Amino acid sequence: MTPSDSRALLLFLVSVSLLSSLLFYTLLKSHLQEPRAHAPPRNISVLLWRWPFGRSYSLAGDKCLEMYNISRCLLTDNVSAFSTADVVVFHHHELSRGPPPPLHLDRPASQRWVWMSLEPPVNNVNLAQLNGLFNWTMSYRRDADIPIPYGKTLLGGDERGFPAAPNRSCLVSWVVSRYQPQQARAGVYQGLKKHIPIEVYGRWTKRPLSDRKLLPTIAKCLFYLAFENSEAKDYISEKLWRNAFRAGAIPVVLGPGRATYEVLAPPASFIHVADFKSVAELAAHLKRVAADREAYEGYFSWHRSHRVKTLTDWRERLCHICVRYPSLPASRIYQDLEGWVNS
Ligand SMILES: *[C@@H]1O[C@H](CO)[C@@H](O)[C@H](O)[C@H]1NC(C)=O
Ligand SMILES: *[C@@H]1O[C@H](CO)[C@@H](O)[C@H](O)[C@H]1NC(C)=O
Ligand SMILES: *[C@@H]1O[C@H](CO)[C@@H](O)[C@H](O)[C@H]1NC(C)=O
Ligand SMILES: *[C@@H]1O[C@H](CO)[C@@H](O)[C@H](O)[C@H]1NC(C)=O
Ligand SMILES: *[C@@H]1O[C@H](CO)[C@@H](O)[C@H](O)[C@H]1NC(C)=O
Repeated sequence: MTPSDSRALLLFLVSVSLLSSLLFYTLLKSHLQEPRAHAPPRNISVLLWRWPFGRSYSLAGDKCLEMYNISRCLLTDNVSAFSTADVVVFHHHELSRGPPPPLHLDRPASQRWVWMSLEPPVNNVNLAQLNGLFNWTMSYRRDADIPIPYGKTLLGGDERGFPAAPNRSCLVSWVVSRYQPQQARAGVYQGLKKHIPIEVYGRWTKRPLSDRKLLPTIAKCLFYLAFENSEAKDYISEKLWRNAFRAGAIPVVLGPGRATYEVLAPPASFIHVADFKSVAELAAHLKRVAADREAYEGYFSWHRSHRVKTLTDWRERLCHICVRYPSLPASRIYQDLEGWVNS
């Protein structure tokens, strides 16, 4: 090879490698830019097998669109739609007490069954019989396939919720319908009331509260005992989201650990029972905050940057399935539903 031959060969090799990498890059790029789905958006049909606790709501029309601006999400409670439904939702309370799920019906291969409950594990009885039937879970838990919390914290302030100076006739209130002495909350209540007066309402007492009277009554007191009936992962009920926040009383919380409340509730919005070594110290803190206007209002400063939204309508929860639908695991089976619920 003469020097000019080898120069020509080198030039040739360099061009080939340049060209091929250019080709490879172009192919890769066009592949990466390929739109992920070409399919036109289609309607998703959601069948609610039984209404929770036997209380039904109208599903006439396109409720998800009309009420929540969620399109292509058709809800029905007509069990004749079983064979065409994309998703069938079973609420645990009825499943555990009533007839079993419709295993005798021909279940379409692409149909997903959803197990739904807003109750803490201790209230979800007879789970073992449901192992291996469900594809998705729907609960207040953040790790459910379709999380449906009782409420959530949103960015963006709302000054209207900010309370005036504490001019209230009572210190602490508690509303309890099913008092059980062995529950943690009962122990804290019994200890706390030795140190401070607590106004107690609800079915357990001789002072039940109607829905209409609930919030105005709680609003008369500076603090509200937002004590959950059981301490379970992520279980924060309407006692916090509605009772305390909507009434504008500082919630004293007992439920999951402080870390959970810190993630889910507005910043510096609550007093956690576990922060105190004794009920005496908790009582002392409440008295201190009650006497110090600035300290009291500090628990409401989140209103300037955050707001809370409560979720109470089953239809809104069902519509939310369609929002999550495209990103839910395609094939999943809860072989050990009982284990998941208790995990
Ligand atoms: C989706 O549902 C809407 C409302 O019921 C209906 O008007 C529309 O024809 C449906 N679209 C398809 C593709 O089925
Ligand atoms: C409804 O949703 C669409 C898109 O999903 C959005 O563009 C529109 O602003 C929403 N309308 C309202 C009133 O929120
Ligand atoms: C349920 O659907 C069936 C079949 O589409 C229909 O014949 C029946 O009238 C529906 N029932 C109700 C209560 O809407
Ligand atoms: C505080 O409450 C008392 C008694 O109910 C009432 O007379 C007074 O006007 C209230 N003060 C304010 C600032 O609301
Ligand atoms: C849903 O669960 C059922 C029952 O375990 C199973 O037979 C079916 O294959 C699952 N469907 C999908 C799409 O994973």
